[in-house]
Amino acid sequence: MNHESSITDPVSTPSMRMILAGSSGRMGHELTSLAQTDPHLHIVACINSKSPLSCLKTQFLSDRDAFDILVDFSDQVCTNDLIQFADQCNKPMLVGTTGLTDSTMEKIRESSTKIPILVASNTSTAIALMHRLVEQAASLLGSTHQIGLEEVHHVHKKDAPSGTARSLARSMRIHCSAAPSDDQVTSIRRDDVPGTHTVSFTSGEDQLVIQHSAMSRSLFARGAIEMARWLVRMPPGLYGPEDWLEQAMNP
Ligand SMILES: NC(=O)c1ccc[n+]([C@@H]2O[C@H](COP(=O)([O-])OP(=O)(O)OC[C@H]3O[C@@H](n4cnc5c(N)ncnc54)[C@H](OP(=O)(O)O)[C@@H]3O)[C@@H](O)[C@H]2O)c1
Repeated sequence: MNHESSITDPVSTPSMRMILAGSSGRMGHELTSLAQTDPHLHIVACINSKSPLSCLKTQFLSDRDAFDILVDFSDQVCTNDLIQFADQCNKPMLVGTTGLTDSTMEKIRESSTKIPILVASNTSTAIALMHRLVEQAASLLGSTHQIGLEEVHHVHKKDAPSGTARSLARSMRIHCSAAPSDDQVTSIRRDDVPGTHTVSFTSGEDQLVIQHSAMSRSLFARGAIEMARWLVRMPPGLYGPEDWLEQAMNP
């Protein structure tokens, strides 16, 4: 079975109509090009700096059933307004944008009582699995091994440490008090690296390394589409990639 057929069964896949925020960015381009080859995915509207939410708000508020989901890969300054819009339209939202502030997270929590919202600082399906693996390793080895966490990204990335590194650290801290704080994450910015995260567990006797290297941004776009397809079927609530993983591993 190849990777694509394991993720989406084209026969049983219903069509999904998406509003894409951040359409002119690196991730926006990846999603747009995947949509061009996916007959079940339709990008019905695009949001970016030159075509902001305010330009299409009225149209979609008066025709709320013209889309199924709002997908956000823009900038954290836009996310508040986008959440409010999804909430007003009563539609699910996938937030892929990183660097969200506490007040944005508060808005997300409020709106998630009304609509399904998935916040994923990393939409790679393999990273969802990596979270589970590092949690298990931290729980077993945290008292005997030193835990290291390093992330490497392209020079254009605005936030550091990456949202994924923060999230990996947070997951490990639940299981092990010696897991790194955000300040202890090593962040490296180099060339056009899409994203590499490495967690190491080192003792005087051995070392376990769990590493994920993204080779192309299309992986995040493919995962986002997969998670979006799941989210449109979910009841209101605040979800993370771990919730998607749970159903993927126990269908
Ligand atoms: N969850 C994941 O797996 C994942 C993976 C990669 C990246 N990300 C995150 O996704 C976000 C986008 O990443 P990227 O690399 O695609 O960034 P990017 O290339 O800088 O693109 C940003 C996009 O947001 C739009 N935008 C920025 N400010 C805006 C505003 N005030 N109003 C409307 N649109 C605005 C830009 O429009 P203009 O081009 O018109 O300025 C552009 O379309 C970042 O937060 C990044 O960290 C997440």
